[in-house]
Formats: sequence, structure tokens, C-alpha cells
Amino acid sequence: MEYNFNTVIDRHGTNCIKTDLAVARGKPADVLPLWVADMDFPTSPAILEALHKKVDHGIFGYSCLDDNFYKALAQWMETEHNFKIERREVVTTPGVVFAIACAIKAFTKEGEAVIIQSPVYYPFKNMIEANNRKTVTSSLFEKDGKWQIDFEDFENKIEKNNVKLFILCSPHNPVSRVWTKSELERLSDICLRHNVIVFADEIHNDFVYEPNRHTVFSTLSEKAAQNSIVSMSPSKSFNLAGLQFSTNFIKNPALRARFHAERDKTGYDEPSLMGMTAALAAYQKGKPWLEALKKHLLENIEFVRSYLAENLPKVRLIEPEGTFLLWLDFSALGYPDAEIDDIIVNKAKVWLDRGTMFGQEGSCYQRINIATPRALLKEALDRISREFSMEKKDA
Ligand SMILES: Cc1ncc(COP(=O)(O)O)c(C=O)c1O
Repeated sequence: MEYNFNTVIDRHGTNCIKTDLAVARGKPADVLPLWVADMDFPTSPAILEALHKKVDHGIFGYSCLDDNFYKALAQWMETEHNFKIERREVVTTPGVVFAIACAIKAFTKEGEAVIIQSPVYYPFKNMIEANNRKTVTSSLFEKDGKWQIDFEDFENKIEKNNVKLFILCSPHNPVSRVWTKSELERLSDICLRHNVIVFADEIHNDFVYEPNRHTVFSTLSEKAAQNSIVSMSPSKSFNLAGLQFSTNFIKNPALRARFHAERDKTGYDEPSLMGMTAALAAYQKGKPWLEALKKHLLENIEFVRSYLAENLPKVRLIEPEGTFLLWLDFSALGYPDAEIDDIIVNKAKVWLDRGTMFGQEGSCYQRINIATPRALLKEALDRISREFSMEKKDA
């Protein structure tokens, strides 16, 4: 079956935060939005069909997962991620950020320290601070076009701050790294040495580009499995974020009981019917669509790479190993961070995520979401390139 990822669909007025919050968030009304990490494509036809069937049935009462679901989930995890799961290890949440908040409350007390690797997806820090815990940052650093981990700093910060929990982003948003097995093993060893529980946010795990390989954290070793929570969702892979459904895999019964207790205190119980229906269809029938999507994303990456080389050679693309979010370095243009953002948002009228939202390490970077039709990607780059060349002429 042929899938089309190049039809432009107007998302204005569809309760879409990417388009419909522009003015409320201080952006121009006609801004072209490539910021938040959802996609500008309809989900796979197999998922749409399953959702249509539920709509036709017409009854949306309290719902539960069934054997079919657990079977499909286990099969997907094993074939796609070499990850063997058992039904009792699965705890659902309405999303990964919700699960992060539960983990923070389950595994730390108020005032205790949680470590993150900045620049990183900003809700990590927001959740730590909203729950009155202390954020400890071990900065990633860029060397030869690749963002890396300073393991010594990571361990020192853990020791010095008596860290209790590590929120790992794997693959990493925004630096688009797919951590290697040996990098993950080193992180795991450090955490085990210092009794730090690991929450592995693996929501981007289906977007990994050859020759890179995603390693599920709890497959590293039995000790890593017993010391971690792995959180995944079909929401990124199949564009289902609005359906509010995600799964957490917790092998250790004691950690699972603590996590469950915190989740239950929120009042959340049954998973969303549409969320679970979409997830089941994704796991059973979504693979061909996902493969076609990844091909489109690779073509978009190549488009950005050659567009920048030709039109904006001073803007550096950090070569992505995974995710559909590209990390662009504008520092060689010589503008201060705030001015880069002003030119992009207010003059070029393109809404990206400014690098410093992810941490100070992101200064002069911007994150662009390429899960969009080529025409929109080109339009955004044309607008940015035009503005920066005009700025040069004005100078
Ligand atoms: C690393 C990461 N974790 C979690 C999320 C959001 O997950 P959810 O919508 O399930 O809360 C995102 C969305 O961009 C993300 O990039």
C-alpha cells in the first residue's frame, strides 16, 4: 500500500496546540509551526479503521485491556525492540509525562534530588520542580558534531547531591542521539553503584536511523531491569498523543508496587478506550505505515541537510541518529540567542523550539520538527533563509 506524507492538511481550528495556541503564546497569527513533537499527518489507515469501528459501536463506557492487547504489545516489543515483557509488568498511564510525575513521587521525597542530562525535554525539569524535588543537571557536551555524556560529571553530581532518581531520555530529545549499549551500560553501572533508580523515557524508540540501534534500558542486564522503569507509547510513532495512552514496564515488583500506588492516588484507573484501541491496531497492523513514515522522515532529513548546505551553510545540522526532531546550531551566524529566536519567530514567522528551553547548553540552537509534508518544511526553511540573508544585507 502507498502512503502519502506530502499532503498539506490545515490543522487550524482543530484543537491542535501546534497551530491554535500561536497567538496565546505570543507568536504571530500566521506563524508556521514546527515546534511541538506531533506530526502533521493522519495516523495509519489501520488505526483509523479500528477507531471508526469503535465510533460505530457508539458505546464509550469504562474500558479494560484484554488478552488480545497484551499479546500484541508483547509481540511488538519482542520483534521491534528485542524486549521480552510479561503482562504483570505493565502499568498504563495517560502519558509518559504523567508517568514521570508518578515516578518522582514514588521514588523520591520532597527536597530530594533527581538527575537529568541537559539539554533535555523540558517537562523533566518542570515535573521535578512542580513536585518540590531538586533538579541536578549533568550537561551533555558537543564534540565533533555529536552530543556526548560526561560520565565523570554524572557520577560526581550523583554522589555530591545524594541523587535518588535518574530520568533518562533514550533516544535523546533534543540532541537526537541514540545512546549506544555501552553508554547505557556505563550509566546503569553508575546508578547501581549509588542506588539511583532509573526512569527510562523511551518514547522515541521507533525512530532510529541505520546503523544505530535502540537498546531498551532493562535489557542491559538483570540488575538494570530490577532497577528501572521503562516508559513507552505508540503516541509518537503513530501520532496519537491526543488519545492519552502509554505503557510502563516495571520488572521489579517492589518498584512496581510503589509506582502503582502513586498512580492510583491520582484517581486515574481505566485507560482511555480510544487510546487502547489505537495502540492495539498500531501493534497489530501499523508496521507498514511506520516503515513508510520513516522513509519519508529520512528523505526530509536529507532535504534539510542539502537545503542548509546550499542556502544556510553556517547553520549546522547535528546529524540525527534518531527522533523526528532536528537540532540545528545557529551559533556561527554570530547573533545572540535571543536575536536568533526573534528573527525566526517574528520576522521569518516560523515557530520552532528555542534551544535554551531545553537548558542553557542549547544556546543558539533551535529544534525543528520534520514530521511534516516536504512543502511545509521547505516553506519554513525558505522563510528562515530569506530573513537571515536580509539581516546580512541590512548589517
Ligand atoms: C522525550 C519525551 N518524553 C515524553 C513526551 C510526551 O509524552 P506524553 O505525551 O506521553 O506525556 C515527549 C513529547 O514530545 C518527549 O519528547
